[in-house]
Amino acid sequence: MSNGDRVVLALGGAGTVGSGIVKALLDRGFKVAVISRDSARLDRLKDFVSSSTKGNLITLVGNVGSEDGAEEAKQALLKLVGKVTDVVSSLGFSWWQGGPPHTQTVKELNWVIDTLLLSTFTSWKAFFPLVRDDSDCTYTFITGGAGDKLLMPGTGFLTVGAASALAFCQILREEYPDVSCKLNQVKINTGVGTPERIAPGFLNHLELGEAVATLIERRTTSHTVYPVSCPADLKTVILEGNL
Ligand SMILES: NC(=O)c1ccc[n+]([C@@H]2O[C@H](COP(=O)([O-])OP(=O)(O)OC[C@H]3O[C@@H](n4cnc5c(N)ncnc54)[C@H](OP(=O)(O)O)[C@@H]3O)[C@@H](O)[C@H]2O)c1
Repeated sequence: MSNGDRVVLALGGAGTVGSGIVKALLDRGFKVAVISRDSARLDRLKDFVSSSTKGNLITLVGNVGSEDGAEEAKQALLKLVGKVTDVVSSLGFSWWQGGPPHTQTVKELNWVIDTLLLSTFTSWKAFFPLVRDDSDCTYTFITGGAGDKLLMPGTGFLTVGAASALAFCQILREEYPDVSCKLNQVKINTGVGTPERIAPGFLNHLELGEAVATLIERRTTSHTVYPVSCPADLKTVILEGNL
């Protein structure tokens, strides 16, 4: 199957991390579908990708953060594109430093869990069946790295949310050890920014996008976690993707 025959659903594709991945995939000839709750964000994404590839970008307003919303988005997407061969999931939010737990509310904790864990679960539940039984298909999770320690004081709830997404990815690998689809995770242990908003030590979302696109394009590995703490680690992702 050539890249042009593949349809990648980029969940969170209008975000900082996702937009870099979407651009890289489009530049390699893939068709890419993006669902966002915000049409203005989708318009900005259309302006951001290479103009020659815009025709291969399919955008859809929807909310994959509930079971019903994800099912609805799936039906609408299938009507538009007919099939999905690959899913890359970078749902969530960039950074959140709400303060120590005694200053936080249940509402804030619910929001963190909704955005980082529940949307990852509900979308996976809806879209995984489209790819799970085909070894030519892929499902790739992009997560943060806050598995076992606080990122820094004041980021406790972000750590809780990121850790729950990490645990979810881990149980998928263990619950589905023999699934045909290539199931991988890129675990980012640092910040990610656009070239205009990049801080020292951050990853450029375009370089991250290139590495993730290589992994999806080559689909040589499965049940693998790629930890990325610095730009040099992206080379490992690319090298292993190219094996
Ligand atoms: N940025 C970083 O520094 C960084 C570092 C390490 C790890 N990460 C991880 O990368 C992931 C994405 O981060 P980001 O920086 O790209 O965040 P972002 O810019 O806020 O983008 C997140 C995307 O997720 C989407 N989303 C969330 N809930 C949704 C829902 N219910 N339905 C549809 N779309 C939904 C948002 O869509 P809408 O357009 O609908 O809002 C948005 O496009 C997160 O899991 C984060 O932990 C990020």
